[in-house]
Amino acid sequence: MGTYIVQGGRRIEGEFQVRGGKNSALPILSACILAEDEVVLENLPLIRDVLQTLDILRELGCKVTLTGRTAVIDSSFLQKTEVGNETVRKMRSSILFLGALLGRAKQVKISYPGGCAIGSRPIDLHLASFQRMGVEIQEENCVLDCKREKIAGAVIQLPFPSVGATENVMLLAAKAEGVTMIRNAAREPEIVALARFLRAMGAEIYGEGTGSILVEGVSRLHGAYYSIPADRIEGGTFLCAAAMTGGELFLRGLEREQMGAVLEVLRTCGCRFLWEESDLLWMKPPKELKSDFTIVTGPFPAFPTDMQPLMMSLLTLAKGNCMISETVFEARFSQGAELCRMGADIRISGENAYICGVKSLHGAEVFAHDLRCGAALLCAALAAEGESIIHGSEYVERGYEKIEDAFSFLGGNIRLREERKPYVQKEIEKNE
Ligand code: UD1
Repeated sequence: MGTYIVQGGRRIEGEFQVRGGKNSALPILSACILAEDEVVLENLPLIRDVLQTLDILRELGCKVTLTGRTAVIDSSFLQKTEVGNETVRKMRSSILFLGALLGRAKQVKISYPGGCAIGSRPIDLHLASFQRMGVEIQEENCVLDCKREKIAGAVIQLPFPSVGATENVMLLAAKAEGVTMIRNAAREPEIVALARFLRAMGAEIYGEGTGSILVEGVSRLHGAYYSIPADRIEGGTFLCAAAMTGGELFLRGLEREQMGAVLEVLRTCGCRFLWEESDLLWMKPPKELKSDFTIVTGPFPAFPTDMQPLMMSLLTLAKGNCMISETVFEARFSQGAELCRMGADIRISGENAYICGVKSLHGAEVFAHDLRCGAALLCAALAAEGESIIHGSEYVERGYEKIEDAFSFLGGNIRLREERKPYVQKEIEKNE
């Protein structure tokens, strides 16, 4: 367990190159299984979730080398089609291996994510879609035993545009016999990235980025080269930190169409933006941030749930009152109580949070309960008066590459105290 020590009150400012996106990288890494050939992926973020996914690929029999941010993955000799409990428990996104492995093998076993706690973060939409495509699924002792003869193209009507279910169906449909139509598909930029990657491997996919995705199955996919697009949530995190500390920021690498809802809210708070080049965004915050509006999270292009904790952190310092409605995930307000320890005024009731802006935050000892909660607390600590101690760096490491170095580079006073050698560092050394 590691702890961030932050001396607040310094501006986050300057220019920063946003790294590759976690949520694009993870499904694309699973998709490599389908290639039966060598894939080269560039611009991978060196974060815990990516390194753990590379380990899963190795466990399954793929040959994986990582040099800097470039991975070469050869899945010609797949040896295993089972993903065990330990792996799934560490990373819920490993459920995406189900679609990819079923594209290669007739039987796949995978532990149920989150043990048997089926109610909490369900995968019912993934499983119902697979069944429609001819996969037989039995559950025994929390292990899903999935068998298929042929994979049948089908019309899949998702009741909710789940990102993971859309990705999993795309992976399986790429190798199906016939055409699959996904209706009410997720439209997130990460879906577009996955479709582009699958196409580079020879898949026939149309309509990504809209609510209807059509996949015409092919019998074989081949190796490809792909560069992981920049992380819109990492970009949003740095914008929030700069806005809260009064710094002027230039961010490189982001795509304009992906940032709409987040920039709109920041604009309402008083921040000014200019796209200086197609991938260079300039932001200047106002002297005083302001609120008095409502944010409702939702599927893309609505406000992203992953940015919600960060925006809550920012709104603690914005003049006025604001309500945030979290409609995507239940109980995603773990940062609220921690921010209150730093002097914020937040009340939470069910899926709504009410934030009343305060003049300043003060340093405190707080706990990161999950990835975005940790990032939200770091932003608050950078803006607060005095020293903050934030426990739980292992959550932050899952999705941000050396965030302490990135914030230091941009002018923050932050260091990471670790009891053990950082996991990410160990993994990088292992690959050298
Ligand atoms: C992905 C992202 C996550 C982001 C989320 C929403 C990755 C690795 N993670 O997660 O960072 O917050 O999209 O943008 O890309 N649901 C069901 N049944 C299902 C599937 C989902 O009820 O079979 C529910 C979930 O419990 C949740 C909601 O649908 O309440 C959204 O989930 P989903 O869009 O699937 O998110 P993930 O793919 O898990």
